[in-house]
Amino acid sequence: MSFTFPNGFVWGTATAAHQVEGGTWNNDWWEFEHAPGSPAVEPAGDACDHFWRYPSDIAMLADFGFGAYRFSLEWSRIEPDEGEFSRSALDHYRRMCATTREAGLIPVVTFHHFTTPRWAVTNGGWTDPAIVDRFARFCEVAVAALGDDIGMACTINEPNIVSLMGHMVGVFPPGHSDLGEYAAANENLKAAHRKGYDAIKSGPGDFPVGSCVAMGDWWAPDGAEGVLAQTREMHEGQHLAAAAGDDFIGVQAYSRTRLSAEGLPEGPEPGIEVLDMGYEYWPNALEVSIRYAADVTASPVYVTENGIGTTDDAQRIRYVTDALGGVRRCLDDGLDVRGYFYWSLLDNFEWVLGYRPRFGLVGVDRVTQVRTPKPSAAWLGEIARTNTLE
Ligand code: BGC
Repeated sequence: MSFTFPNGFVWGTATAAHQVEGGTWNNDWWEFEHAPGSPAVEPAGDACDHFWRYPSDIAMLADFGFGAYRFSLEWSRIEPDEGEFSRSALDHYRRMCATTREAGLIPVVTFHHFTTPRWAVTNGGWTDPAIVDRFARFCEVAVAALGDDIGMACTINEPNIVSLMGHMVGVFPPGHSDLGEYAAANENLKAAHRKGYDAIKSGPGDFPVGSCVAMGDWWAPDGAEGVLAQTREMHEGQHLAAAAGDDFIGVQAYSRTRLSAEGLPEGPEPGIEVLDMGYEYWPNALEVSIRYAADVTASPVYVTENGIGTTDDAQRIRYVTDALGGVRRCLDDGLDVRGYFYWSLLDNFEWVLGYRPRFGLVGVDRVTQVRTPKPSAAWLGEIARTNTLE
């Protein structure tokens, strides 16, 4: 059986600055990784040295057959101190956009992917409403320099993970667990998305702009439907609603969350494969998420992230095949799904878990930085090239 995706369906891979560039010392994550007692198992360090190696990485991506590359701007490089902008950093990202285009790929630029400059965090971080104008000003300056070369833009990557992991679970900076902070961060993240969106839209260039929300499948025992709906609304719904009316909604899905009758996380179901991330092998998460996002926002959908952290590349191929089956069912039902970005191009820094989970289509030697494509790279590249899933 084979399925051909709609004409113009965009196939890409995604990365984020702190996870691949190396030397991103001026942000809150670097500080968090080095703090005494940090839950982070290791620092990002040189990461994949992508700051210097991006030309060959992008060439490799194009050779595989992809049509787009999603990467993020490191705010702390562009605005190393409040109101002080680095022309050299902006030029770097301009070159990245140009290199991406010259390789025949669409540059998809994320303005914030989990990392915030140290100065912005010392002065209040995401719980302080001042962050909204700070982020909007950064967007305004960055788009003025880059806008005419951007192909598509995401404002804030997974705002709901920034608030949840940073202010409730405490394994992202600032490492707090405080319901009041969690609520405040959500409000500021939603407002920052809106203001950032307007700033990017008012700059040069004419390209689609959207938000990228962390989503998944959800389960709760019978009788706990109310708790389930409430949790889903708190985690996903409010951020989807804040993105309604945007040019697109970015769906990012990996797994399923099981809740107890009280709404607390239950952990994996016995008998279901558990991945290195500690969650279930659950490719169906993508289909469920696309349907929910389309329902709440009524916007065109791009899968801006989907993937699996595994050392078993055959399992990766199986996972993506199953997940794409879900995309296909959505398309068959008439949903407007416009693209799929695999997370990630490279094995990279998986935040608090360090370099152990392997999401890449390409392996990276941690000492020599030598890249070794896995079979899944050619496999997914061929799907991208032919726009067809066999
Ligand atoms: C994030 C990525 C992360 C990936 C895999 C998403 O939550 O945007 O930065 O590496 O999932 O866990």
